[in-house]
Amino acid sequence: MTSSPEIVVSVDSLWQVYGDNPELALTDQYKDVSKSELQDELGLVLALKDVSLEINRGETFVVMGLSGSGKSTLVRCLNGLITPTSGQVNILGQILSDIDNDELTQLRRNSIAMVFQHYALFPHLSVMENTAWGLEIQGIGRRERNRRAQEKLELVGLQGWEESYPVELSGGMMQRVGLARALTLEPEILLMDEPFSGLDPLIRREMQDELLSLKESLHSEQTQTTIVFITHDLDEALKLGDRIAIMNGGEVVQLDTPDQIVLNPENEYVASFTEGVQSQTVLTAGDMATAYGETAQVGSSPEAVLQVALDNDCCPNVHITGEDSQFKGVVTVDVAIKALEAGADSVEAYVESPTTFSAEDTYDDVLPSVLAHPSCLPVIGEDGALVGVIDSTSLAATWDAAAPEIRYQLAPIVREGIEKILETRAARAEG
Ligand SMILES: Nc1ncnc2c1ncn2[C@@H]1O[C@H](COP(=O)(O)OP(=O)(O)OP(=O)(O)O)[C@@H](O)[C@H]1O
Ligand SMILES: [Mg+2]
Repeated sequence: MTSSPEIVVSVDSLWQVYGDNPELALTDQYKDVSKSELQDELGLVLALKDVSLEINRGETFVVMGLSGSGKSTLVRCLNGLITPTSGQVNILGQILSDIDNDELTQLRRNSIAMVFQHYALFPHLSVMENTAWGLEIQGIGRRERNRRAQEKLELVGLQGWEESYPVELSGGMMQRVGLARALTLEPEILLMDEPFSGLDPLIRREMQDELLSLKESLHSEQTQTTIVFITHDLDEALKLGDRIAIMNGGEVVQLDTPDQIVLNPENEYVASFTEGVQSQTVLTAGDMATAYGETAQVGSSPEAVLQVALDNDCCPNVHITGEDSQFKGVVTVDVAIKALEAGADSVEAYVESPTTFSAEDTYDDVLPSVLAHPSCLPVIGEDGALVGVIDSTSLAATWDAAAPEIRYQLAPIVREGIEKILETRAARAEG
């Protein structure tokens, strides 16, 4: 059973321009002008340009972009800290420009919580007092607010630290207090602006995992918390987001699910981000396979096979195919040379069966074999045809952390060797 999602945040043609006479940026003359031109010509800073999006209840909506792309401005528009130059923000059925200050304060206090990169923890308050602070300003009694704060502190793994003071905590623990403080408000919407950016990588990953499991426990409660999570880190976005809006120069340049962002970047800007992404979660062997260049036929001569190896440049395995591109096996450069020296007419008797992948295999299935074989390995479709090849270079294209030593390149020495052999043969044939 699926019901259509409930929209909790709706943003319609939002513009935010900083400077004098910001409305100028929206006039016909300037509305299509780039951010830098606008700054040069009018001294206006374009922070949001015609942003429209909808966020569903319960989803983790990630806004990703480089510094200055407008992420924080967007979040500030969502909780009414900024009144946009133009456009509309609807939060939980209320249009922000239509409500008065008291109503806005109520909305912020009761339904929206915010977590920043730098938590403003009160140094003179204990962890418990810091966590319960939001409830205190709501006028909730000490016993009740401590009970609720305790619950959330346990949820973020800070049981036993209730009486400690911020100065006694690590950065990661302070982030947890900030998170617990936001959670005690049991907000319908949790806005998180780069909450993990200040943490070292290991702690950061730990916090991401915790947010994911936290979300599960939040979802088992009656209210489904919606999270708007800001980051400039694509891996973090892919890991946490149900959907991701990628921003550039104040514009949303793609809004999609993580796998679509990686597999089908809509423009060069998004593609430039996803090039080096750690994609084990979304990619299959079929996605990762790169074109295999030329293949040789079963009946090819050893020379023809060596020539294919040269033409292909990257792969010491020459793939041998039969009719309809059916994959038959490989002949390695070494073996082709052996066949040549043995005077064989065809490589048929020399074809070997390598490790192969099926197109549905995942990144994790593929990785160990690719690391074990410093050559390209074939990906075979259901119909038995060669789909493409995977080697550590094509893997590296989707796997940022690939160690340089596993990136295979046809060794220059092998290349020279083949060239020499073929030249000699050709000269002999001519002479
Ligand atoms: N109060 C302000 N006055 C003038 N310009 C501003 C103001 N706030 C933000 N800007 C500009 O608006 C643009 C968007 O800023 P914003 O803070 O939203 O970016 P961001 O994506 O959150 O960046 P970061 O990753 O560095 O936090 C930037 O060019 C910034 O310089
Ligand atoms: Mg920011």
